[in-house]
Parts: sequence; structure tokens; C-alpha cells
Amino acid sequence: MIVLGIESSCDETAAAIVNEKREILGQCLLTQLEEHKPFGGVVPEIAARSHLEHIDDIIDHTFKSANLKPQDVDAIAAASGPGLIGGVVVGVMAAKAMCLALNKPFIAVNHLEGHALAARLTSNVKYPYLLLLVSGGHCQILVVKGVGNFERLGTTIDDAAGEAFDKVSKMLGLGYPGGPIIEKMAAVGNSRRFVLPKPLFNSGDCNLSFSGLKTAVRKIIESYSPDGILEHAILPEQDVADICAGFQFTVTECLCQKLDKAISYFKQKYPQGKDLVVSGGVASNTFLRTRLELLAQARGLEFSAPPIRFCTDNGVMIAWAGLERFQNGYTNSLDFKPRPRWPLDENAPKAAGAGGVKA
Ligand code: KG4
Ligand code: ZN
Repeated sequence: MIVLGIESSCDETAAAIVNEKREILGQCLLTQLEEHKPFGGVVPEIAARSHLEHIDDIIDHTFKSANLKPQDVDAIAAASGPGLIGGVVVGVMAAKAMCLALNKPFIAVNHLEGHALAARLTSNVKYPYLLLLVSGGHCQILVVKGVGNFERLGTTIDDAAGEAFDKVSKMLGLGYPGGPIIEKMAAVGNSRRFVLPKPLFNSGDCNLSFSGLKTAVRKIIESYSPDGILEHAILPEQDVADICAGFQFTVTECLCQKLDKAISYFKQKYPQGKDLVVSGGVASNTFLRTRLELLAQARGLEFSAPPIRFCTDNGVMIAWAGLERFQNGYTNSLDFKPRPRWPLDENAPKAAGAGGVKA
């Protein structure tokens, strides 16, 4: 069984071809990073136009790298939401057009399910498993029970973890995307110098919040400004490093605290479950990965994380999730409408303060 997957929901145009033996037969990825850098974040209109310009070549290169022809695949999957809708539509339309021309089944993949299932391609993770999904747009703790079958235990009620990394980086004038830059600075910083708040730390549930933490960082930066205006602040490099270290440490503490709670629930309700998985762009963070590994060890779970190149957005995770869906008999009709919001657990109650924007 061979599946082509297409990803275009944020700022990566990507495609990949995988088979049921977990082999990646071909892949191609183009990041728009340089196009968005001047704006300090992803500009939806620029993203959509860039996807449109490159999608055909990316798919073409993917087939060439696999030494396959389009008619050789059994199904075509596209990330069909959640995400920036202009970009999502580009990938979905490309997939649908190919399906129509080649008479192949179309599979609408939830981008978050792509992140969630990536670890099953790269390591031998079995259902059910506990998942921390941390990306630029989402921050959730879920039990992955099977394909299209999730129980959400917690979510951020405001910013996603990656979003917080990006905003703190912007406030410090470090650039975009913030995660990798903050991680690099934090490596030479003292995480204990600035003690930052841990919102919802003792709330008793598995929900998270990063907006107060971000505001605390803002106040520290403003204290370096002669007139209190953030943009006028002048910080010595060591102080920047110390702020980055304190921020990264605090985010990690919050995530580990809530995961610890989630593990207790998971072990009780799903005693057959053995794995703790982290996925999404923030899962590239080595400090976080190390701490999660220790937590898993201490609680008797196996820790898995996809290789860093499969943590950030990519076509391989969409192809793999598409393949798992196809194996389970899930295909979609060509009139499937892309979904800008698409929660993995449709039954999860809205978290108080979520403002209806986080899925
Ligand atoms: O999964 P992803 O590529 O896109 C979304 O679906 O959102 O995640 C991108 C996010 C960005 O916010 C970026 O700052 C963050 O992942 N990120 C990191 C690291 N690398 C990427 N955050 C912390 N540490 C990193 N090393
Ligand atoms: Zn993503």
C-alpha cells in the first residue's frame, strides 16, 4: 500500500510518499521561513500564494525522488485543516485534482493527527498512548486510542507553547521562529536568575496557560527600557540568555507538571498503554525532550519522539496518517470541505478561557 501525502497548512509546502512497511519512498519540503521572517510571524496571504506557486513542483519532485509515477500510489492524502485556510485549500485542491484525474481515493487528514501519529512511523508505538502535542498553534495532552480516536485531557486556555516561544523571541528582538533561537540562547543562560510565574500550575486539571508567563517576561524586558517602552529596552547579552533560560525552564516545568497528572489518569484508565509521546514543532526542543524522557522513566513509561525533522510540519506525517486512515477504511468524498478548526476530540469540553479559538 502506497500513499502520497500533501502538507500546506502553515508555512511549509511539503509532500511525501510512504508505504505500509513504514518506508519513506520519497519526500520534498520547502519552507517559507525567509518570506515570513521580516514580519516576525506567518502572514496568511503570503503563505497561501507561496503554496500555490510551489505545490506542483513539490509533488513532482516527490514522485521523482521515489522513482514512482502518480498512478503508482493507492491513495492521496492532504492536510485538510486545522490551519491557515488559504494554504490548506491549495493542498486539498491539488490532492483532489489528482484523485479525480487518476481515479484514486482522497483522504482528508487532520494536520494534528499527522503530528499525533508521526511517532508510529518512526518508532514502534502502540495504541493507546499518551501524547503531548506542542506546536506553534496547539498545545494539548491527549490519549491516542486509535485512528481518529482521541481523548483530550488538557489544552492551553490561551497561547500555544510555540506561540509563546515566538512572542518572547520577538519581544527580545531575536527573530522568527523563536523556539530554536531561544533554545540556543538558553543553553548559555542561568534559568534560576529570573523566577517566572507558572500559570495554572496548581489548578488540579491538565490545562495549560502561557499568556501570564509571556506578560511577566515583557515586564522584565520593559524594566531595561529608559522610558518603559519595550522596543527601547537595551539588554546585555547575558541577561537575554538568562531570560531565555528562565522562560524555557518555566514552560518545561508547566508541561511536565500537567503531564505528570495526565500520566496518573492514563495509567488508571488505560493500563495496557505503555508510551509517552511528544510531537509538534516544540518537540524539537532538546531541553524539553530530556525532561520528558526523565519523567517517562520515573513513571514507568516508554518515551518516544519523532526525529526533529518530523516534529515540525512535514509531508511524511500527513502521508503516514493518510495511510493509517486508508488501512482503516477511511476515505473522503471529493466535496470534503477544508476545516480551519478541527478538534481531534470533538467531545472535549471547551476549556474556560479558550475563547473558542483553540481546538
Ligand atoms: O509544528 P510546527 O512546525 O507548526 C505548527 O503546526 O504550528 O511548529 C512550529 C512551532 C513554532 O512556534 C516554533 O517556534 C516552535 O514550533 N519550535 C520550537 C523549537 N523548534 C520549533 N520551540 C521550542 N524549541 C525549539 N527548538
Ligand atoms: Zn504543525
